[in-house]
Amino acid sequence: MATKRAKISIIGAGNVGATCAHWAAAKELGDIVLLDIPDRVGVAKGKALDLACCSPIEGFDARITGTSDYKDIANSDVVVITAGMPRKPGMSRDDLIKTNVVIVKDVSLKVREFAPNAHVIVVSNPLDAMVYTAWKVTGFPTHRVMGQAGALDVARYKTFLSMELNCSVEDITALLLGGHGDDMVPLPRLTSVGGIPVTDLLPKEKIDACVQRAKVGGGEIVNLMGTSAYYAPASGTIQMVEAIVRDKKRVIASAAYCEDEFGIAPGQKGKGYFVGVPALIGAGGIEKVLTFKMNAEEQKFMDESVSHVKDLVGTVRNLFPDLA
Ligand code: NAI
Ligand code: 2OP
Repeated sequence: MATKRAKISIIGAGNVGATCAHWAAAKELGDIVLLDIPDRVGVAKGKALDLACCSPIEGFDARITGTSDYKDIANSDVVVITAGMPRKPGMSRDDLIKTNVVIVKDVSLKVREFAPNAHVIVVSNPLDAMVYTAWKVTGFPTHRVMGQAGALDVARYKTFLSMELNCSVEDITALLLGGHGDDMVPLPRLTSVGGIPVTDLLPKEKIDACVQRAKVGGGEIVNLMGTSAYYAPASGTIQMVEAIVRDKKRVIASAAYCEDEFGIAPGQKGKGYFVGVPALIGAGGIEKVLTFKMNAEEQKFMDESVSHVKDLVGTVRNLFPDLA
């Protein structure tokens, strides 16, 4: 029996949103809707048309629609939220919170109304607080709301390790957890190269330098380009979309809802947080959070990172008490 094409809607047709559309089309993941505000509908329509004209060359079949009308996102399997301001040199991701929480709240209300059965992947920053906002506003079950950050942070870490080791990125297995901030949690103990622990292949200072560069990798690119990265963020996002629409059951570091997991909000039913953790992603969204025992140093880094996420969520709650 023929299977139906998936439908992927991307809110925000800026750098990250349009590049998500590009990767999704190139991988032939489904039909794509690119939505922006009415003032930027020309950009959404123009990018959608330009991308559609790649299809005869690249050999993909997908209907790509640019719009500002939320009716067009009806029946989406996945909605990716990239709407919001990116940072400029000198800004941290957290500096975006007041502007972006208003935007993500508004977008999430529309997603709740027009695509009530979709999985939602949030990309807008500050990531962990924006996922929380989308969850509260949509009221969707936690397995259908997640954030992209870990896929990107891990990819950066692997890239820097492969440069150091002069080996293929494909042979590196790695994990970074915690919030999407400069305090994300390094896990060199769980990093391997062709099955060999990286700690046997590189001295501690070199591994630490790769971790550090991954932590501030977003800022390095902002300083070079004057705006934030988009190729790798979009690639990480589409890795998650692909895991859902192709039911791949990939294990991808993602901002997923946690309570007891990693001691994030122990015993606090319904009062958990979205934090970067290893998540098994398939047709059911976040099908499982994979846990493991951290050592004392890793747990300390995790606790610090989670405390930062809690502060950011606290700011959202102060700004919008209805989201508490
Ligand atoms: P951009 O400025 O190129 O695009 C943002 C788009 O959102 C614009 O086209 C804008 O018109 C649109 N927009 C604004 N308000 C909207 C609304 N209410 N409804 C629909 N669309 C709306 O910015 P860029 O570079 O695409 O970044 C987008 C967001 O993603 C930023 O918040 C940025 O910090 C974040 N980001 C997150 C990453 C992650 O790993 N989680 C990585 C890179 C960026
Ligand atoms: C990044 O890490 C800004 O979050 C974005 O590139």
